[in-house]
Amino acid sequence: MTQNAERKVKVRVWDLPTRLFHWLLAVLVVVSFVSGQMGPMHLHQTSGLAVLSLLLFRLVWGFVGGTHARFADFVKGPGTAIDYLKGRFLAIGHNPLGGLMVLALLAALLAQVGLGLFANDDISYDAPLSKFISKDASDAATGWHALLVKGILGLVALHVGAAFFYLVAKKDNLIQPMITGWKALPASLSAHSAKMGHPLLAAVLLALTGALSFGLLLL
Ligand code: HEM
Repeated sequence: MTQNAERKVKVRVWDLPTRLFHWLLAVLVVVSFVSGQMGPMHLHQTSGLAVLSLLLFRLVWGFVGGTHARFADFVKGPGTAIDYLKGRFLAIGHNPLGGLMVLALLAALLAQVGLGLFANDDISYDAPLSKFISKDASDAATGWHALLVKGILGLVALHVGAAFFYLVAKKDNLIQPMITGWKALPASLSAHSAKMGHPLLAAVLLALTGALSFGLLLL
């Protein structure tokens, strides 16, 4: 598709589960960061497991969710990314570069919760899976967990910075669609109709991934 300056129309792009996932994730990542720095550890553990529930949900949603929530819709090869940069490809959902950012954020957060599950604070807290590895290995996981915080802060800063760059410099508001689900697109795309993921399916999936994540406390 070629980018042009034609009249814009609103097209429904993001389904409700994808939008709720996004804003819940953003809030929980902030809660995890603050509680990781200042405590209490039980809050940090709870928000970390809630982040894990959301991430597992999003991995499955990437295959069964709405059209633009699916990985197949936004994970593209370098050729498409170059076409996008040259203005020869107009994305309806995540653009090819945004898609890379989404994958980077999901992978970094998964690694972060994965490491957190094996961590300890040397005082009174041992994470649910730390008892299955040696103290040295748990200390190493704790070290990587602390280090990866910086990587995630960097990615989030880049992500939010990019959203505002699109808003201010490119006059392309990506934030509003992540809130309302509707995006302004060139009129030639008005016939486009994306399939929205079913909220009930999302609720069942989230209940399952939540049970799996919080079930780790029973081990
Ligand atoms: C800790 C904070 C945040 C995290 C971890 C995060 C993570 C993510 C993830 C994983 C996605 C992909 C959504 C999906 O397909 O399921 C996404 C998309 C998006 N996020 Fe965030 N986000 C954060 C904060 C924010 C904030 C504060 C804003 C706005 C100011 C924002 C704006 C957006 C937008 C506009 C998109 C869609 C981009 C597009 O249209 O391609 N995010 N974010």
